[in-house]
Order: sequence, then structure tokens, then C-alpha cells
Amino acid sequence: MRNRIIGLLAGTALIAASVAGYAEDKKKLVVGFSQIGAESGWRTANTASVKDEAKKRGIDLKFADAQQKQENQIKAIRSFIAQKVDVIAFSPVVETGWEPVLKEAKKAGIPVVLSDRAVEVSDESLYKCFIGSDFVEEGRRAGKWLVEKTGGKAQIAELVGTPGAAPAIDRKKGFEEVIAKYPDMKIIKSQSGDFTRAKGKEVMEAFLKSPEGKNINVLYAHNDDMALGAIQAMEEAGKKPGTDIIIVSIDGVKGAFEAMVAGKLNCTVECNPLIGPQLFDLIEKVAAGKEIPKRVVSEEGVFDQSQAQKELPNRKY
Ligand code: AHR
Repeated sequence: MRNRIIGLLAGTALIAASVAGYAEDKKKLVVGFSQIGAESGWRTANTASVKDEAKKRGIDLKFADAQQKQENQIKAIRSFIAQKVDVIAFSPVVETGWEPVLKEAKKAGIPVVLSDRAVEVSDESLYKCFIGSDFVEEGRRAGKWLVEKTGGKAQIAELVGTPGAAPAIDRKKGFEEVIAKYPDMKIIKSQSGDFTRAKGKEVMEAFLKSPEGKNINVLYAHNDDMALGAIQAMEEAGKKPGTDIIIVSIDGVKGAFEAMVAGKLNCTVECNPLIGPQLFDLIEKVAAGKEIPKRVVSEEGVFDQSQAQKELPNRKY
């Protein structure tokens, strides 16, 4: 009897030891993430969402801020490859020029997940999945709202995002597709404000001083930050933003809702930056060798001034 009890205890201890051993052995997932920078309120919220989610899941996140430079992103990705991370994720600042570094990652056997923005590559097997918004649809939504608001008559100034960036290309495309059906809707000024508030203000100042400046009655900004900068420029030029110039922009950051409540911005099309949880769901599946969809689109809405007051307390970014 005594021997049987000793045997049972020894067996239990062995199982407990091997379970503990397994837990210790279970390697922490190592993920390299190359972020574009901190150019907008949207980006800041996106970074926080990625970092918070990695922490929650006990993932070892190697985070690199590229300060809006593609060369810095390429360097970061190469360093992730050298460190032999399990998965690489990144938000590409521009669409093109990624093939060589993506081939290096593939050769090293490291899967890549695109977050927020897409790339243009001849071989789609160079990345596993792209999670982010449908930017063309966002542009269409801004255009459709504007058609309703203006009855199809508008002299539009456009603040474009970073040249070569997917949201800049696609938001222009979607918007132009809609207004093309209305001959009295014309883009009379268009220039990049690089997705930043400072540049948005600077370019709007130049628009207003230009010979066409007095005819501008609509601003379409590819993000809220540029629209908020432009609002300042309009006020300094003695214009009433939201009244003299109708403003529609994209993102749905808190500042845009505050501007709508103040009557200075008319509409924001939502672009959701809080994709950390979805991103890491995909990353964990990829790391475990599971199948994942090639494209995951985030769900988004459109908000105008009449909804701003009610929605403002709910905004998380
Ligand atoms: O890629 C998403 C875009 O990038 C956001 O609309 C903009 O604010 C950000 O800088």
C-alpha cells in the first residue's frame, strides 16, 4: 500500500513538472512592427492599439517608428529579419518599392502581415494578409455626402495625403469617381498636406491666397488633421469654416467631432485605427501555421454635424 502511494505521488509530481516545463518552454511570440510615424491623431491611436494589444497577449513586440520615411521602414524590416522574429507586421508609408525587402523576409521564412495600408507587388505571396480600411470606399462616402449636401454644385479644394500612400491614392480615386457624375462639382485646387495638421494649414493658406481662392466653397481633406489645420488657416483669413467653406474629411478623430460640435467641420468619414486586436488575432494564427484570409476590412461609418454631440463621448480616439 505504502509503495503504491509513493508511486502515485511520484507520478503526479512528474506530470506537474512536465506541465510547468511546457509552460516555460512555450516560447513568447516575437513580432516586429514597423510603424509609419506619428503624423496624425489617427496614427497615435493606431500605435496605442497595437502596443496595448501586444502587451495584453504577452507578445514580445519590437516596435520601430519610421518617421514617415520608407528607407527607415526597410531598415527596420531588415533588422527584424536579422533578429529572426516570428512574424513581421508593418504599415507601409507608400505603396511601391517593397518587393526586395519582402523577398528577403520570405527567403528567411518570416511571414509578413500588412496593417492599415496596402503595397503594390507583382507577387502577392510576399505577404500573408492585409488588414485595414477600404480607402476607395471612404473617398466615395465623402463624395456621396458632399453631393447630398451641395446638391451637386461645388468648387472644391482638396488636401491630399502623403504622395504615393495608399490612402492618398485611393481616397482621391473614390471621391473623383462619385463627383465625376456631377459636372458642376469641380476640384479647383489640389495639393498634398502630407496628412499633417501643420502642412494642412500651410497649404490651405496658399489655396486661399491663390487667384482661385475666393471661389473655393468646399474643402475635401484626406484626413481630419489636415482639415483641422485648414480650419485655422480659414479663420486667420477671415473665413467661417463650416459655413463659408463646407468641410468633409476622413478619420473620425475626437478633434473632428469637437470641430463639428463647434460648427466648423461638416462631416467626417470614419477610418478605424483600433485594429490591434484583429491584427494580433491574424498574427497569432499565421505564427501557428493556420490559414487566414488575404484581406480583412475594418467596419466604418459616416458622421455629420447632427450626430456629433451624441457621438463625441463615445469616441475612443
Ligand atoms: O493610413 C491611414 C491614414 O494615415 C489616416 O487617415 C491618416 O490620418 C494617417 O496618417
